[in-house]
Amino acid sequence: MTRTGLFRVLMLTALFFGLLAPAESASPGRKLLVESLLSRMTLEEKIGQMTLFTSTWDQTGPTVNADYLAYVQQGKCGGLFNAFTASYTRYLQNIAVTQTRLKIPLLFGYDVIHGHRTIFPIPLGESCTWNLEALERSARIAAIEASAEGIHWVFSPMVDIARDPRWGRVSEGSGEDVFLGSLIARAKVRGYQGPDLSAPDSVIACAKHFAAYGAAQAGRDYNTTDISDRTLEETYLPPFRACSEAGARTFMTAFNEIAGVPCTANRHLITDTLRKRWGFEGFVVTDYTSINELVPHGIASDEAEAGRLALQAGVDMDMQGAVYLKHLATMVRKGEVPEALIDDAVRRILTVKAELGLFEHPFKGCDEVREARVVFCDEHLAASREIARESFVLLKNEGGVLPFRKDLRSIAVIGPLADATTDLLGNWHGAGDGGKVLSVLGAVREAVSSSTKVLFAKGTDVSGRGVSRPSGLREALDTARKADAVLLVLGETETMSGEAASRSDIDLPGRQNELAELIARSGKPVAAILLNGRPLAITRLHKAVPAILEAWYPGSMGGKAICDVVFGDFSPSGKLTMTFPRSVGQIPLYYNMKNTGRPESENKYTSKYIDVPNSPLYPFGHGLSYTTFRYSDLRLSAKTLSRDGRLAVSVTVTNTGARDGEEVVQLYLRDLVGSVTRPIRQLAGFRKIHIPKSESRTVTFDLAADDLAFLRANMSWGTEPGDFEVLVGGDSENLLKDTFHLLD
Ligand code: NOJ
Repeated sequence: MTRTGLFRVLMLTALFFGLLAPAESASPGRKLLVESLLSRMTLEEKIGQMTLFTSTWDQTGPTVNADYLAYVQQGKCGGLFNAFTASYTRYLQNIAVTQTRLKIPLLFGYDVIHGHRTIFPIPLGESCTWNLEALERSARIAAIEASAEGIHWVFSPMVDIARDPRWGRVSEGSGEDVFLGSLIARAKVRGYQGPDLSAPDSVIACAKHFAAYGAAQAGRDYNTTDISDRTLEETYLPPFRACSEAGARTFMTAFNEIAGVPCTANRHLITDTLRKRWGFEGFVVTDYTSINELVPHGIASDEAEAGRLALQAGVDMDMQGAVYLKHLATMVRKGEVPEALIDDAVRRILTVKAELGLFEHPFKGCDEVREARVVFCDEHLAASREIARESFVLLKNEGGVLPFRKDLRSIAVIGPLADATTDLLGNWHGAGDGGKVLSVLGAVREAVSSSTKVLFAKGTDVSGRGVSRPSGLREALDTARKADAVLLVLGETETMSGEAASRSDIDLPGRQNELAELIARSGKPVAAILLNGRPLAITRLHKAVPAILEAWYPGSMGGKAICDVVFGDFSPSGKLTMTFPRSVGQIPLYYNMKNTGRPESENKYTSKYIDVPNSPLYPFGHGLSYTTFRYSDLRLSAKTLSRDGRLAVSVTVTNTGARDGEEVVQLYLRDLVGSVTRPIRQLAGFRKIHIPKSESRTVTFDLAADDLAFLRANMSWGTEPGDFEVLVGGDSENLLKDTFHLLD
């Protein structure tokens, strides 16, 4: 019987026995299908479904690794990752559905992190848009492109809260804030999965890395995490819970341990919290060889034991480690692990495959014609450009240096990243192609008037080696002197952030500060564009140049998006989602810190440094515009809030500058006295609004008692009566303030 035929027979049987009403036909029919398959699978075939392997690629296309292909043929591999293009995934899927005994389709996963072929800004940059619709849209576009190439599963969103910019993976997340991070997590899951998982252009999301990977000590990747249960619950888990609530079908365990228990063997996290408390019904995959790593972690003496621990913790799928494949069957036969645990895992995996519609349509979405039509299409590129320019954060702009005019006589584009292409895509750019990217220099040439001369000098390279000889700097200064204005393009190469890219010094690498200081002495108007994957400690650059635009790694259309802002076609509106420290010694530095018993003051014996203030260089929420906004008239609808009541908080925002602009209006709360200490402020609402020049808008936030809930001293979530501060403004430091009382 054909696959579709089998599926129909099972569905009809289910209908006949009254197991399903037409309106909810999907779920019981699916159950029947899964149970029927499960009952016919050998132990080895079941373990195969729990095994995920990577494919191998070379530069001209796929190369087939004999081993994983053999496993697919023998039904010992349920999914593959790092395989894409419609033709390649079709070739592989065909093996699974024609050559294996049970013809169970493969699941194809891939690191589609910020776009598939059309690359969007890195997630940290994209979060600075504070535009949830845009964030959902880029995920939708990524799903459309990836699914056309046969991908069913994206290893995204990465929802690790991160407070340590030394950690290279801050680039993959949405910054330091739980409230914003949780909203973004939901938007991403919605975008990837769409309203119907079985649709040809829907892919399943994967919430990663579960959990607290962002709390790695000293910002060193894969390092130990040791945080309190309170911090875990309040800070690191909420975005994961948001993913689960939004229906994410998979979770990926993190590499790190938490207080002595590696996440891949952490039953408390996977089974007790994720499944039992949150009701998650999808499946859990490990990160790359995480089960094997339980041995060097020191909680398993060999891989077999590691496999047992992972299975017992609730891990369903082994990514690339082959531990389940090698050891589970023997352990079941010896009675060391119950087969029921394996059945549970396989049931979850097959259910997700069924939800995706793969049993009916194993080649779902995978379509060369659609691939050619949607991949890198004009509409997607336009979206990438729009989102990129919205993600840029104007860190400073003294004297209104920016925007530059397009009809200058000459402009010098200087710096090690001025003519970079692949670097604009940023780390984890998946199937993105640096060869299709226009550099900032190339984009400037296209943007300026035909009479404007565009000069270029590299000056130095990012590492400080290569062309960093004094002659390179001298040549750059000569070039600057010949120009009417200078655009400096500085930062980190794309490989300096992302996985395994922690840095102990997060200033600009190499001799870039020297270059900036030299160019600033040319006396020309200078603006620096930063391309980087983390907050940098750029106190030197801040002192050297009057204008700095943080452009992150902006993606496929980065060069043009930068020019949109540099030449004033678009007024910047991005706001930081992660604090920029003055120096690396202040880390961890985040806006919602505690007050301490000795808050910083003139007094020597208070919580501070003797060599640097506690305040950041640029605070969370900061970002300038080409116009200016004034906040006034903060009003509360009442001075008290009852447990079931509501409180309206409004503020007037006036565009006091010379052009229209967008502003992210931010609302923070502070609980003044609690049964445990509370942060000095916490984001509790925001609105992104467009305000024409000289006009005002009133923004109203609606608060309920639930918005004031926290993990109380007895570790239960809820509110406590008392006084609260409500703070509203355009960043986390410059805020209007009022107070209200939460009634008992
Ligand atoms: C390791 C990374 O930690 C994870 O984020 C990624 O999804 C997997 N490798 C697969 O490439």
